[in-house]
Amino acid sequence: MAINTDAAIMDKIVSLGKRRGFVFQSSEIYGGLNGCWDYGPLGVELLRNVKEQWWQAMTYRVDIEGIDAAILMHPKVWEASGHVENFTDPMVDCRECKARFRADQIEEAACGSPAYKGRKASKCQAEGKFTEARQFNLMFKTFIGPMEDSSAVVFLRPETAQGIYVNFLNVQSSSRQKLPFGIAQIGKAFRNEINTKNFLFRTREFEQMEMQFFVKPGSDVEWFEYWKEQRLQWFVDLGLTREKLRWLMPDKLAHYAKAAADIEYEFPFGWGEIEGIHNRTDYDLSRHEQFSGKSMKYFNEETKERFTPFIIETSAGASRAFMAFLVDAYREEEAPTADGKTEIRSVMKFHRRLAPIKAAVFPLVNRDGMPEIAKKIEAAVRPHFRVFYDDSGAVGRRYRRQDEIGTPYCFTVDSQSLVDQTVTVRERDSMKQERVSMDGIVGFLRDAFAP
Ligand code: GAP
Repeated sequence: MAINTDAAIMDKIVSLGKRRGFVFQSSEIYGGLNGCWDYGPLGVELLRNVKEQWWQAMTYRVDIEGIDAAILMHPKVWEASGHVENFTDPMVDCRECKARFRADQIEEAACGSPAYKGRKASKCQAEGKFTEARQFNLMFKTFIGPMEDSSAVVFLRPETAQGIYVNFLNVQSSSRQKLPFGIAQIGKAFRNEINTKNFLFRTREFEQMEMQFFVKPGSDVEWFEYWKEQRLQWFVDLGLTREKLRWLMPDKLAHYAKAAADIEYEFPFGWGEIEGIHNRTDYDLSRHEQFSGKSMKYFNEETKERFTPFIIETSAGASRAFMAFLVDAYREEEAPTADGKTEIRSVMKFHRRLAPIKAAVFPLVNRDGMPEIAKKIEAAVRPHFRVFYDDSGAVGRRYRRQDEIGTPYCFTVDSQSLVDQTVTVRERDSMKQERVSMDGIVGFLRDAFAP
């Protein structure tokens, strides 16, 4: 067996991702667009399942409401948030090869000149080929309306959080929530990253799953600890290997944060943040009060106190979470073949709730009425679960194809089915088979996927 270096594993996952329809390069036929990716038929199912699990965990509780705010917001939002001033990365240009680098990531970067192939950019820096560092704002700009002048500039939001802050009082008064309570949102965010890298890890367009929890000042430290625990557990409950998760307490805090804790996952290319938990204090609401001139204070009916709540934020990247679930699920292991030998199977051991396809249905052979029965089963399952019908090739090959995309159950119609109306069901991880009644398949799947 070939040695699986971390880079080789990542390459295999990226190529499986393309071959089986999880992730494609954006605009591939034109050579791709750097930092942008498209989700294929299986990828979109997996991504939707990740988001749905998050939505259920965060909003199916009494103290959190959901919203879906517009991507484009009033430009003053980004002045108030501090993004116009602070959301920058230091950037340098190489005078020789013309490549652009993040000044704080020179160590990792390769020189862009073909003449210096493989050479680290830090060498060029040492030789004085770099310009002075300049601050580069990561927000994408566009224009609203027909005039392309400075009064028409708007930004594509770099985080979903601000759509929540500006709606804090709308949500609070319409839902009649009392502190502490949260507002959750899933949506696209855009950052003009200087260096995109590592597949879906750092992209220019991505999705965030953010929740802002509004609390009384003084209770913020306790709630910060509560949300840290909840969020780590969410990843563990959905099957991520616990040993590949860790906390990182960043040395450098974002301009809005009093405390921050990052959940990191150990990807094949190293540890990387998948979610940040932040104590944002009253920074955001105070700033919006200052910039909009509208009170953002909360009124406690019982105590008659009026104050600016503190915010505990949980901010996860849907695309980074997707990648962590994809990478973590990927296994290569020995499996028996039909003729009693062993072979290596690639299997995606997704948590059953995340699996893009929940069940496959096969006729053992394409005759004796088996395809007709298998099609009937497929039709019965389809309204309830994502199901796939496959009648091509040996049944062992069909199992391998489903293993590779992580389908938890395969039902096969065989000659015994014609006699007693049962089929075999084969479970993905154990590869064990048992017989179940054809009539009971939807019920079997309901039990298997019950929350
Ligand atoms: N509202 C706070 C906030 O946006 P962040 O640490 O900048 O905080 C939160 O981002 C999460 O968003 C990260 O943990 C990551 O999962 C995701 N994220 C940030 N930048 C990203 C990028 N360029 N590509 C993919 N995901 C990104």
